[in-house]
Amino acid sequence: MKAVVLYKTCKLEELNVSEVSIPEVKPGWILIKVKAFGLNRSELMMREFEGNASYITLPRILGIECVGEIANVSDSRFIKGQRVIALMGGMGRSFNGSYAEYTLVPSKNVFSVNNYYEWEELGAIPETYYTAWGSVMDCLQLKPEDILIVRGGTSAAGLAAIQLAESIGTTVLASTRSEVKRTFLLKQGADHVLIDNGTLRDQVLSIYPRGANKILELVGASTLLDSAGLLSHHGIVCVTGILGKKGTLDNFYPIKDLPSGVYLAGFSSNSPSQSVIDDIFEHMHKHNLHPAISKVFSLDEIGQAHALMESNTANGKVIVRI
Ligand SMILES: NC(=O)c1ccc[n+]([C@@H]2O[C@H](COP(=O)([O-])OP(=O)(O)OC[C@H]3O[C@@H](n4cnc5c(N)ncnc54)[C@H](OP(=O)(O)O)[C@@H]3O)[C@@H](O)[C@H]2O)c1
Repeated sequence: MKAVVLYKTCKLEELNVSEVSIPEVKPGWILIKVKAFGLNRSELMMREFEGNASYITLPRILGIECVGEIANVSDSRFIKGQRVIALMGGMGRSFNGSYAEYTLVPSKNVFSVNNYYEWEELGAIPETYYTAWGSVMDCLQLKPEDILIVRGGTSAAGLAAIQLAESIGTTVLASTRSEVKRTFLLKQGADHVLIDNGTLRDQVLSIYPRGANKILELVGASTLLDSAGLLSHHGIVCVTGILGKKGTLDNFYPIKDLPSGVYLAGFSSNSPSQSVIDDIFEHMHKHNLHPAISKVFSLDEIGQAHALMESNTANGKVIVRI
């Protein structure tokens, strides 16, 4: 089969398709015929530097998520040909992932889907909507009356969060560093656009003098404390992303660094479950939600797909259709 194998950390021009054997089925693992997959920042990090980490063994087929059909059910409850999604659990990191024609995944990370999205659209959903849903619906306990800031609003996860928030009637302020993306964010459902240029606080307080009560922090540790300062009393900030490439806070002193009476949460997509996946698709169906897709590539165009993600101009999920 064709697969994108990471032999060593590399530049995107060095990302190639190889011929490898179709994985052999083993108990507890399911073989999926991959139909499409979305690209993720973590795959970009694997390619650039994480592949050198002590907990990663190369060569490794990249890819932390996919959508497709069951090719071999192994000892699972699935049936051959069933439409499924698969994500996380070490996919593309501790075992071979989804940048391939077939992928072998532990059955606990494979979930049935009962809907009629085209493969490209379905491919844009698993990791992105699981992350956005877990962040806003669970960690931030989003309500219609909330004022939500999505910091990093043009990211695929940010766009999904804006869409979910809009679907329940929440007011959304979405940030970008780029003035040219203002109209795009308004079209995607943001009520207000914030330009993240050092004056974010003034922009927020000029609209809502008491601040927002929910913030989805996708830029990460580099802007977290600034975001916490934009919260009203008893507001919550949920850290989900590291777009700013900083995952940790230096010398964090919670008593002094966090405003009194605000809550700090974090979201990790490591433990997806069938019931949450079902909730997400039910909600998307009920509200007729469709993911923002940037562009669809073939597997042979994987370098161009990574280049688009790296360029920060994608404005939606970058998809590979097999
Ligand atoms: N916690 C979890 O389990 C989990 C799961 C999935 C994803 N994530 C994280 O969520 C974040 C979003 O992922 P994604 O795949 O949706 O991203 P994406 O679509 O690739 O994000 C692209 C956007 O990132 C923004 N960006 C890039 N560098 C930035 C910087 N230094 N500062 C501020 N903004 C920057 C750009 O916005 P502008 O140019 O418009 O400003 C660009 O439009 C990533 O950090 C990813 O690792 C976390």
